[in-house]
Amino acid sequence: MTAPAAPSGPGQAATVRRSVIRGTGHYLPERVVTNDHFTESLDTSDEWIRGRTGIERRHFAADDQCTSDLAIAAARAALTSAGMQPDDIDAIVVATSTPDFTFPAVATMVQAGLGMTRGFAFDVQAVCAGFVFALANADGLIRAGQADRVLVIGAETFSRIMDWTDRGTCVLFGDGAGAVVLEAEDGDGTSDDRGILATDLNSDGRLKDLLHVDGGVSSTGTAGQLRMQGNLVFRHAVEKLAATAHRALDKAGLSAGDVDWLVPHQANLRIITATAQKMQLPLDKVVLTVADHGNTSAASIPLALSVANSQGRFAKGDVIVTEAIGGGLSWGSVVLRW
Ligand code: UT7
Repeated sequence: MTAPAAPSGPGQAATVRRSVIRGTGHYLPERVVTNDHFTESLDTSDEWIRGRTGIERRHFAADDQCTSDLAIAAARAALTSAGMQPDDIDAIVVATSTPDFTFPAVATMVQAGLGMTRGFAFDVQAVCAGFVFALANADGLIRAGQADRVLVIGAETFSRIMDWTDRGTCVLFGDGAGAVVLEAEDGDGTSDDRGILATDLNSDGRLKDLLHVDGGVSSTGTAGQLRMQGNLVFRHAVEKLAATAHRALDKAGLSAGDVDWLVPHQANLRIITATAQKMQLPLDKVVLTVADHGNTSAASIPLALSVANSQGRFAKGDVIVTEAIGGGLSWGSVVLRW
């Protein structure tokens, strides 16, 4: 989706409905697991994990915590940050690949958990790119006039689909949730508007085997475990992430030189660094949470947005680019003005 100006007649202003972030929130489970935890049972080391990924620690959900619990906590924090009540919200979109149940959607569980009695709620599944896809969908709802205020959440419990004997994957992932509140605001249809300016979404199902879960409802009847050909996914990530960010910037009428903050999917510090280099962005313009959170899949971008916002790092008017790639393969980016 691009950011077309609404048609205007003579003397009419070309207003466009923009989706502006009014609040952010996040939740991380209490249990923190450092890299040393894995050296007890696997042939790995803190040095390897830090050196190859930048990950130092991650959070794992407690046995009695589900994805919806994490999502509800993040949603509450985002509503507080936006100064809104649950019934101010028209729609909830949750990005997750680790739902509590096959159905209902986690989003409806969040709706009930917040005590929200109106609106609609659904999940989006694009794995690690899920939040970017959810943000683009929520923006579409707002632009189409179907909603004025949308709660967009990324929430995951990837610890539930790890093969703890596979050192190539189990050291990478963590659990958590992040949320943003989007609200409609009329803009002039230019890149000076606040809110989401452009999105760029992509998938290539021919690459589905590179990163997948080997179980599911209609195949094995089990939840399955995550399988990844890490080095191949790495190559696609380095090639595709800067390209999607450039495409979205182009659609927004901006260039990499206009970017104040890159808020990337937090999978691997080496991928993030390579993407920033391709965009000619210094690392001090990149929000980094990978060391503390690991890869939280669809939760990683809203977690990073919320952490950076709570630190007061974003100023009104800043241009922010988010980008992510994950299973599918699916990848994409969103350009917004804070
Ligand atoms: O979020 C969704 C998208 N996912 C990603 O973006 C992840 C993309 N991939 C990656 O981040 C990296 O490929 C990994 C961090 C997963 C792996 O790093 P790599 O530099 O690509 O390593 P590799 O897979 O090529 O493996 C190099 C070596 C292998 O040993 P040999 O064959 O050279 O003897 C692996 O067996 O490292 C070994 N290895 C490990 N060694 C110690 C793999 N995992 C570990 C480990 N500890 N945990």
